[in-house]
Amino acid sequence: MNTCSAHPPKIAILGYGGMAKYHVDRLRKLGIMEVTGSFDTDPARQDAARADGLIAYPSAETLLADKTIDAVLIATPNDWHCPYAIAAANAGKHIICEKPVAMSVDELDKMEAAAVKNGVLLTVHQNRRWDGDYIAVREIIDSGILGKVFRIDSFVCGANGIPGGWRKLPKAGGGMMLDWGVHMLDQIFDYIKDKPTSLYCRYSHALGFDVDDGFNAHIGFENDLEVNVRVDTNTFTDIPRWIIYGRDGTAVIEDWALNGKITLPVYGTEVEIVGIEAGNGFTKTMAYRPHESVTEREIPKPVVDYDTFYKNFVATITGKEKSCISIDSVRKVMRVMELCTLSDKKNTVLKKELLQL
Ligand SMILES: NC(=O)c1ccc[n+]([C@@H]2O[C@H](COP(=O)([O-])OP(=O)(O)OC[C@H]3O[C@@H](n4cnc5c(N)ncnc54)[C@H](O)[C@@H]3O)[C@@H](O)[C@H]2O)c1
Repeated sequence: MNTCSAHPPKIAILGYGGMAKYHVDRLRKLGIMEVTGSFDTDPARQDAARADGLIAYPSAETLLADKTIDAVLIATPNDWHCPYAIAAANAGKHIICEKPVAMSVDELDKMEAAAVKNGVLLTVHQNRRWDGDYIAVREIIDSGILGKVFRIDSFVCGANGIPGGWRKLPKAGGGMMLDWGVHMLDQIFDYIKDKPTSLYCRYSHALGFDVDDGFNAHIGFENDLEVNVRVDTNTFTDIPRWIIYGRDGTAVIEDWALNGKITLPVYGTEVEIVGIEAGNGFTKTMAYRPHESVTEREIPKPVVDYDTFYKNFVATITGKEKSCISIDSVRKVMRVMELCTLSDKKNTVLKKELLQL
């Protein structure tokens, strides 16, 4: 390995599909790592790599045998993450693995053991830790403007079904829990340090595939906080990305462009809540608040360095920094996803199983 040389580290890619191309474009713009080549089992993707100016290695073995390469990026369907990570570690390459790191905690343990044995870095592309909406959620809660937060809704609802081939196949690690759940649960467990006390999850199969096309997970935490994480692929209307419920206000982040608002109540004797006709009834409890009884604030627009992950990877393999994605944090989320599957299978709330997290 030449990771101590002045030249940018060289990285090659296993699986040259949509995400690989995204990495190549980002890394070429950033210029801190050189993407040299790739291998894909699909000849059309080998051609695409050549057209993009990369070496198209004839096999994964030849790619891993190339001594000039310092690191490997694994961007295949999920069932290949574990075998390729172990082979890359045994070939002495540092590893960026796409999310989900693996199909199970057991696989992850094997990957980590291979990395430790060979003295290479294993990290996982949990890029959504730098999503502006997620960072805005943290900023809003940390500012205290909402008072004590008692509920967080994190929703991602698409209308395009499950795209592509392998994402529909259980064997390849398809389904929305492993696709989107891994990001959203990662954000929740990255931020919330209270202990989870209960978990209930239901998977949906509205589209008729063997894999889940969405799920609804409810996680209770110590300190009376509840979190709802929901993914759906068959919702034909806009659902807010986040709703944060605090004792002193509510924040809604509509979308990844950070549209939304923070609504705070105005208390005072001059504000009178008047009952309303509601359907075939009357309510004061659920009456809309009059305009003068609330005030609105904008959602903060955090300044985020989207390249932090790549910069940290280079700094870590050159011995200058510690990896910003710990394998322990990745393992915890993998475990939570396994518990979601267990809860769905048993249709039951899990409590004691959370003690091991
Ligand atoms: N971090 C993110 O935001 C993000 C976004 C999208 C996808 N991903 C992850 O990236 C990975 C790839 O997803 P994608 O959307 O690029 O899928 P994709 O289908 O576009 O690309 C996967 C590629 O891998 C190739 N492939 C399959 N088996 C292979 C093997 N054994 N060896 C080499 N190549 C093989 C396929 O031919 C295909 O070209 C998945 O793990 C996915 O979860 C991450």
